[in-house]
Amino acid sequence: MKIIEASGAKIPAIGFGTYKLTGETCSRMVAKAIELGYRHIDTARMYGNEREVGEGIRASGIDRRELFVTTKVWRDDIGRDRLVPSAEAAVEALGIGPVDLLLIHWPNVEIPLTDSIEALNAAQSKGLTRHIGVANFPSAMLDEAVSLSAARLVCNQVEYHPGLSQEAVLAACKRHDMAMIAYSPIGQGGDLLKNPAIEDLARAHGRTPAQIVLRWEIEQDRVGAIPRTSNPERAASNLDVFSFELSSEERDALFAMTKQRQRLVDPGFAPDWDRA
Ligand SMILES: NC(=O)c1ccc[n+]([C@@H]2O[C@H](COP(=O)([O-])OP(=O)(O)OC[C@H]3O[C@@H](n4cnc5c(N)ncnc54)[C@H](OP(=O)(O)O)[C@@H]3O)[C@@H](O)[C@H]2O)c1
Repeated sequence: MKIIEASGAKIPAIGFGTYKLTGETCSRMVAKAIELGYRHIDTARMYGNEREVGEGIRASGIDRRELFVTTKVWRDDIGRDRLVPSAEAAVEALGIGPVDLLLIHWPNVEIPLTDSIEALNAAQSKGLTRHIGVANFPSAMLDEAVSLSAARLVCNQVEYHPGLSQEAVLAACKRHDMAMIAYSPIGQGGDLLKNPAIEDLARAHGRTPAQIVLRWEIEQDRVGAIPRTSNPERAASNLDVFSFELSSEERDALFAMTKQRQRLVDPGFAPDWDRA
Protein backbone atom coordinates (compact mmCIF):
# COMPACT_ATOMS: atom_id res chain seq x y z
CA MET A 1 0.00 0.00 0.00
CA LYS A 2 1.33 3.42 -0.90
CA ILE A 3 1.23 5.85 2.03
CA ILE A 4 1.00 9.57 1.31
CA GLU A 5 3.00 11.65 3.77
CA ALA A 6 1.58 15.15 4.03
CA SER A 7 2.33 17.69 6.75
CA GLY A 8 2.80 14.97 9.35
CA ALA A 9 -0.18 12.81 8.29
CA LYS A 10 0.29 9.33 6.85
CA ILE A 11 -2.65 8.63 4.54
CA PRO A 12 -3.13 5.24 2.84
CA ALA A 13 -3.41 6.06 -0.87
CA ILE A 14 -6.50 3.92 -1.48
CA GLY A 15 -9.42 4.53 0.86
CA PHE A 16 -12.95 3.20 0.97
CA GLY A 17 -15.65 5.75 0.04
CA THR A 18 -19.04 5.42 1.72
CA TYR A 19 -21.33 8.02 0.09
CA LYS A 20 -24.79 6.47 -0.44
CA LEU A 21 -23.91 3.38 1.60
CA THR A 22 -26.50 3.16 4.35
CA GLY A 23 -27.83 0.81 7.01
CA GLU A 24 -26.62 -2.74 7.15
CA THR A 25 -25.00 -2.58 3.69
CA CYS A 26 -22.80 0.22 4.97
CA SER A 27 -21.63 -1.50 8.17
CA ARG A 28 -21.15 -4.81 6.35
CA MET A 29 -19.17 -3.22 3.49
CA VAL A 30 -16.97 -1.21 5.86
CA ALA A 31 -16.13 -4.38 7.85
CA LYS A 32 -15.52 -6.24 4.57
CA ALA A 33 -13.31 -3.46 3.21
CA ILE A 34 -11.15 -3.62 6.35
CA GLU A 35 -10.98 -7.41 6.09
CA LEU A 36 -9.82 -6.99 2.46
CA GLY A 37 -7.02 -4.66 3.57
CA TYR A 38 -8.43 -1.13 3.31
CA ARG A 39 -6.91 1.05 6.04
CA HIS A 40 -8.56 4.35 5.12
CA ILE A 41 -12.31 4.99 5.35
CA ASP A 42 -14.08 8.13 4.13
CA THR A 43 -17.41 9.35 5.49
CA ALA A 44 -19.15 12.69 6.16
CA ARG A 45 -21.86 14.17 8.38
CA MET A 46 -23.90 14.67 5.23
CA TYR A 47 -23.88 10.95 4.30
CA GLY A 48 -25.92 10.15 7.43
CA ASN A 49 -23.97 6.92 7.88
CA GLU A 50 -21.28 7.67 10.48
CA ARG A 51 -23.02 5.41 13.00
CA GLU A 52 -22.97 2.48 10.54
CA VAL A 53 -19.40 3.24 9.49
CA GLY A 54 -18.41 3.08 13.18
CA GLU A 55 -20.31 -0.21 13.60
CA GLY A 56 -18.45 -1.69 10.63
CA ILE A 57 -15.11 -0.58 12.04
CA ARG A 58 -15.85 -2.08 15.45
CA ALA A 59 -17.19 -5.31 13.91
CA SER A 60 -13.95 -5.72 11.92
CA GLY A 61 -12.02 -6.07 15.19
CA ILE A 62 -9.15 -4.00 13.79
CA ASP A 63 -6.85 -2.09 16.12
CA ARG A 64 -8.10 1.50 15.85
CA ARG A 65 -4.54 2.79 15.44
CA GLU A 66 -4.20 0.91 12.15
CA LEU A 67 -7.05 2.81 10.51
CA PHE A 68 -7.21 6.27 8.99
CA VAL A 69 -10.78 7.60 9.28
CA THR A 70 -11.95 10.82 7.66
CA THR A 71 -15.19 12.68 8.19
CA LYS A 72 -16.44 16.05 6.97
CA VAL A 73 -18.48 18.90 8.39
CA TRP A 74 -21.27 20.09 6.10
CA ARG A 75 -21.07 23.60 4.61
CA ASP A 76 -23.95 24.98 6.71
CA ASP A 77 -22.02 24.08 9.84
CA ILE A 78 -18.65 25.67 9.20
CA GLY A 79 -19.35 28.94 11.05
CA ARG A 80 -17.63 29.96 14.26
CA ASP A 81 -20.27 28.46 16.59
CA ARG A 82 -21.34 25.42 14.62
CA LEU A 83 -18.25 23.62 13.42
CA VAL A 84 -17.04 22.24 16.76
CA PRO A 85 -20.51 20.95 17.81
CA SER A 86 -20.85 19.28 14.39
CA ALA A 87 -17.43 17.62 14.80
CA GLU A 88 -18.44 16.50 18.31
CA ALA A 89 -21.60 14.93 16.89
CA ALA A 90 -19.53 13.15 14.23
CA VAL A 91 -17.13 11.70 16.80
CA GLU A 92 -20.04 10.63 18.99
CA ALA A 93 -21.83 8.94 16.02
CA LEU A 94 -18.72 7.09 14.87
CA GLY A 95 -17.93 5.91 18.39
CA ILE A 96 -14.28 5.11 17.67
CA GLY A 97 -12.62 8.02 19.46
CA PRO A 98 -11.19 11.04 17.62
CA VAL A 99 -11.11 10.87 13.83
CA ASP A 100 -7.84 10.98 11.91
CA LEU A 101 -8.91 13.72 9.54
CA LEU A 102 -11.69 16.31 9.76
CA LEU A 103 -12.53 18.20 6.56
CA ILE A 104 -14.64 21.18 5.63
CA HIS A 105 -16.90 19.43 3.09
CA TRP A 106 -17.49 22.46 0.85
CA PRO A 107 -16.58 26.13 1.14
CA ASN A 108 -19.41 28.57 1.85
CA VAL A 109 -19.18 32.17 0.59
CA GLU A 110 -21.67 33.30 3.22
CA ILE A 111 -19.34 32.34 6.05
CA PRO A 112 -15.97 34.11 6.47
CA LEU A 113 -13.21 31.63 5.69
CA THR A 114 -11.23 32.91 8.64
CA ASP A 115 -14.05 31.81 11.01
CA SER A 116 -14.22 28.36 9.44
CA ILE A 117 -10.50 27.80 9.58
CA GLU A 118 -10.27 29.03 13.17
CA ALA A 119 -13.10 26.71 14.17
CA LEU A 120 -11.45 23.81 12.33
CA ASN A 121 -8.28 24.49 14.30
CA ALA A 122 -10.35 24.58 17.51
CA ALA A 123 -11.79 21.12 16.70
CA GLN A 124 -8.25 19.83 16.41
CA SER A 125 -7.10 21.55 19.62
CA LYS A 126 -10.04 19.98 21.46
CA GLY A 127 -8.81 16.55 20.40
CA LEU A 128 -11.73 15.71 18.11
CA THR A 129 -9.37 14.96 15.22
CA ARG A 130 -5.68 14.27 14.67
CA HIS A 131 -5.48 16.23 11.42
CA ILE A 132 -7.50 18.86 9.57
CA GLY A 133 -8.09 19.69 5.93
CA VAL A 134 -10.59 20.82 3.33
CA ALA A 135 -12.54 19.52 0.34
CA ASN A 136 -13.65 21.17 -2.87
CA PHE A 137 -11.27 24.12 -2.47
CA PRO A 138 -9.93 25.64 -5.72
CA SER A 139 -6.23 26.54 -5.68
CA ALA A 140 -6.50 30.25 -4.74
CA MET A 141 -8.93 29.47 -1.92
CA LEU A 142 -6.59 26.73 -0.72
CA ASP A 143 -3.71 29.24 -0.59
CA GLU A 144 -5.90 31.54 1.49
CA ALA A 145 -7.02 28.75 3.84
CA VAL A 146 -3.42 27.70 4.43
CA SER A 147 -2.43 31.27 5.21
CA LEU A 148 -5.26 31.52 7.78
CA SER A 149 -4.58 28.23 9.54
CA ALA A 150 -2.39 27.96 12.62
CA ALA A 151 -2.16 24.17 12.23
CA ARG A 152 -1.12 22.44 9.00
CA LEU A 153 -3.90 21.52 6.57
CA VAL A 154 -3.00 18.03 5.35
CA CYS A 155 -5.44 17.40 2.51
CA ASN A 156 -7.76 18.82 -0.12
CA GLN A 157 -10.32 16.25 -1.27
CA VAL A 158 -11.55 17.03 -4.79
CA GLU A 159 -13.15 15.31 -7.77
CA TYR A 160 -10.40 13.77 -9.87
CA HIS A 161 -10.28 11.13 -12.62
CA PRO A 162 -9.05 11.02 -16.21
CA GLY A 163 -12.03 13.12 -17.34
CA LEU A 164 -11.05 16.13 -15.22
CA SER A 165 -7.73 17.95 -14.83
CA GLN A 166 -6.80 19.09 -11.34
CA GLU A 167 -3.39 20.44 -12.34
CA ALA A 168 -3.81 23.74 -10.46
CA VAL A 169 -5.16 22.13 -7.29
CA LEU A 170 -2.45 19.47 -7.27
CA ALA A 171 0.23 22.13 -7.72
CA ALA A 172 -1.24 24.03 -4.76
CA CYS A 173 -1.30 20.85 -2.64
CA LYS A 174 2.37 20.30 -3.46
CA ARG A 175 3.21 23.90 -2.51
CA HIS A 176 1.65 23.35 0.90
CA ASP A 177 2.91 19.81 1.60
CA MET A 178 -0.67 18.48 1.34
CA ALA A 179 -2.26 15.37 -0.13
CA MET A 180 -4.86 15.58 -2.89
CA ILE A 181 -7.47 12.88 -2.34
CA ALA A 182 -9.52 12.03 -5.43
CA TYR A 183 -13.25 11.62 -4.97
CA SER A 184 -15.48 10.07 -7.64
CA PRO A 185 -12.13 8.54 -8.69
CA ILE A 186 -13.70 6.04 -11.09
CA GLY A 187 -16.13 8.60 -12.50
CA GLN A 188 -19.01 7.25 -10.39
CA GLY A 189 -18.81 3.99 -12.34
CA GLY A 190 -20.28 5.68 -15.44
CA ASP A 191 -19.14 6.45 -19.01
CA LEU A 192 -15.50 6.94 -18.00
CA LEU A 193 -15.09 3.20 -17.48
CA LYS A 194 -16.51 2.56 -20.97
CA ASN A 195 -14.08 4.91 -22.66
CA PRO A 196 -12.47 2.84 -25.48
CA ALA A 197 -8.94 4.03 -24.64
CA ILE A 198 -9.38 2.94 -21.00
CA GLU A 199 -10.96 -0.35 -22.09
CA ASP A 200 -7.94 -0.98 -24.38
CA LEU A 201 -5.53 -0.35 -21.50
CA ALA A 202 -7.57 -2.69 -19.29
CA ARG A 203 -7.33 -5.45 -21.91
CA ALA A 204 -3.60 -4.87 -22.41
CA HIS A 205 -2.90 -5.21 -18.67
CA GLY A 206 -5.48 -7.92 -17.93
CA ARG A 207 -7.10 -5.49 -15.46
CA THR A 208 -10.48 -3.80 -15.07
CA PRO A 209 -11.05 -0.24 -16.35
CA ALA A 210 -11.50 0.86 -12.70
CA GLN A 211 -8.07 -0.58 -11.80
CA ILE A 212 -6.44 1.29 -14.71
CA VAL A 213 -7.95 4.59 -13.60
CA LEU A 214 -7.12 4.07 -9.90
CA ARG A 215 -3.57 3.03 -10.75
CA TRP A 216 -3.10 6.19 -12.85
CA GLU A 217 -4.26 8.29 -9.90
CA ILE A 218 -2.18 6.73 -7.16
CA GLU A 219 0.96 6.69 -9.33
CA GLN A 220 0.90 10.48 -9.08
CA ASP A 221 2.88 12.10 -6.28
CA ARG A 222 0.59 13.08 -3.33
CA VAL A 223 -2.57 11.68 -4.94
CA GLY A 224 -4.85 9.17 -3.21
CA ALA A 225 -8.30 7.84 -4.19
CA ILE A 226 -11.40 6.71 -2.30
CA PRO A 227 -13.53 4.50 -4.59
CA ARG A 228 -16.90 3.40 -3.26
CA THR A 229 -18.72 0.15 -3.95
CA SER A 230 -21.49 -1.96 -2.45
CA ASN A 231 -19.99 -5.06 -4.08
CA PRO A 232 -17.34 -7.10 -2.18
CA GLU A 233 -15.62 -8.36 -5.38
CA ARG A 234 -15.28 -4.82 -6.68
CA ALA A 235 -14.01 -3.68 -3.28
CA ALA A 236 -11.25 -6.29 -3.55
CA SER A 237 -10.29 -5.42 -7.13
CA ASN A 238 -10.37 -1.65 -6.52
CA LEU A 239 -7.72 -2.15 -3.83
CA ASP A 240 -5.61 -4.47 -5.96
CA VAL A 241 -3.73 -1.78 -7.87
CA PHE A 242 -0.26 -2.06 -6.38
CA SER A 243 1.17 -4.91 -8.46
CA PHE A 244 1.21 -3.45 -11.96
CA GLU A 245 2.42 -0.24 -13.59
CA LEU A 246 1.41 1.97 -16.47
CA SER A 247 4.05 2.98 -19.01
CA SER A 248 4.81 6.67 -19.41
CA GLU A 249 2.96 6.67 -22.78
CA GLU A 250 -0.10 5.13 -21.13
CA ARG A 251 0.05 7.65 -18.32
CA ASP A 252 0.29 10.51 -20.79
CA ALA A 253 -2.65 9.21 -22.79
CA LEU A 254 -4.78 9.36 -19.64
CA PHE A 255 -3.45 12.85 -18.81
CA ALA A 256 -4.47 13.99 -22.32
CA MET A 257 -8.04 12.93 -21.53
CA THR A 258 -8.22 15.26 -18.51
CA LYS A 259 -8.58 18.25 -20.87
CA GLN A 260 -12.17 17.18 -21.54
CA ARG A 261 -13.24 18.69 -18.20
CA GLN A 262 -16.02 16.26 -17.47
CA ARG A 263 -16.90 17.44 -14.00
CA LEU A 264 -19.55 15.20 -12.41
CA VAL A 265 -20.10 17.02 -9.10
CA ASP A 266 -20.99 20.68 -9.61
CA PRO A 267 -23.80 21.87 -7.32
CA GLY A 268 -25.14 25.42 -7.46
CA PHE A 269 -23.14 26.38 -4.37
CA ALA A 270 -19.82 25.20 -5.85
CA PRO A 271 -16.92 27.70 -5.78
CA ASP A 272 -15.28 29.16 -8.92
CA TRP A 273 -13.28 26.18 -10.08
CA ASP A 274 -9.78 26.43 -11.51
CA ARG A 275 -9.83 26.60 -15.29
CA ALA A 276 -6.77 24.40 -15.87
N1 LIG B 1 -15.82 15.64 -0.76
C1 LIG B 1 -16.85 15.54 -1.56
O1 LIG B 1 -17.55 16.53 -1.85
C2 LIG B 1 -17.19 14.21 -2.15
C3 LIG B 1 -18.06 14.14 -3.26
C4 LIG B 1 -18.34 12.89 -3.80
C5 LIG B 1 -17.77 11.75 -3.24
N2 LIG B 1 -16.95 11.82 -2.15
C6 LIG B 1 -16.33 10.60 -1.54
O2 LIG B 1 -15.67 9.88 -2.58
C7 LIG B 1 -16.19 8.55 -2.62
C8 LIG B 1 -16.16 8.01 -4.04
O3 LIG B 1 -16.86 8.84 -4.95
P1 LIG B 1 -18.29 8.43 -5.56
O4 LIG B 1 -18.99 7.56 -4.60
O5 LIG B 1 -18.92 9.71 -6.00
O6 LIG B 1 -17.94 7.66 -6.91
P2 LIG B 1 -16.94 6.50 -7.40
O7 LIG B 1 -16.23 5.85 -6.28
O8 LIG B 1 -16.13 7.09 -8.51
O9 LIG B 1 -17.96 5.46 -8.08
C9 LIG B 1 -18.87 4.72 -7.33
C10 LIG B 1 -19.78 3.97 -8.30
O10 LIG B 1 -18.99 3.12 -9.13
C11 LIG B 1 -19.44 1.78 -9.04
N3 LIG B 1 -18.24 0.93 -9.00
C12 LIG B 1 -17.41 0.73 -7.93
N4 LIG B 1 -16.38 -0.07 -8.29
C13 LIG B 1 -16.56 -0.38 -9.59
C14 LIG B 1 -15.81 -1.17 -10.50
N5 LIG B 1 -14.69 -1.79 -10.14
N6 LIG B 1 -16.27 -1.28 -11.79
C15 LIG B 1 -17.42 -0.63 -12.15
N7 LIG B 1 -18.17 0.13 -11.33
C16 LIG B 1 -17.73 0.26 -10.05
C17 LIG B 1 -20.28 1.69 -7.77
O11 LIG B 1 -21.37 0.82 -7.96
P3 LIG B 1 -21.53 -0.56 -7.07
O12 LIG B 1 -21.81 -0.10 -5.67
O13 LIG B 1 -22.69 -1.22 -7.74
O14 LIG B 1 -20.24 -1.29 -7.21
C18 LIG B 1 -20.82 3.11 -7.63
O15 LIG B 1 -22.02 3.28 -8.34
C19 LIG B 1 -17.61 8.71 -2.04
O16 LIG B 1 -18.17 7.48 -1.68
C20 LIG B 1 -17.33 9.66 -0.90
O17 LIG B 1 -16.77 8.94 0.19
C21 LIG B 1 -16.64 13.05 -1.62
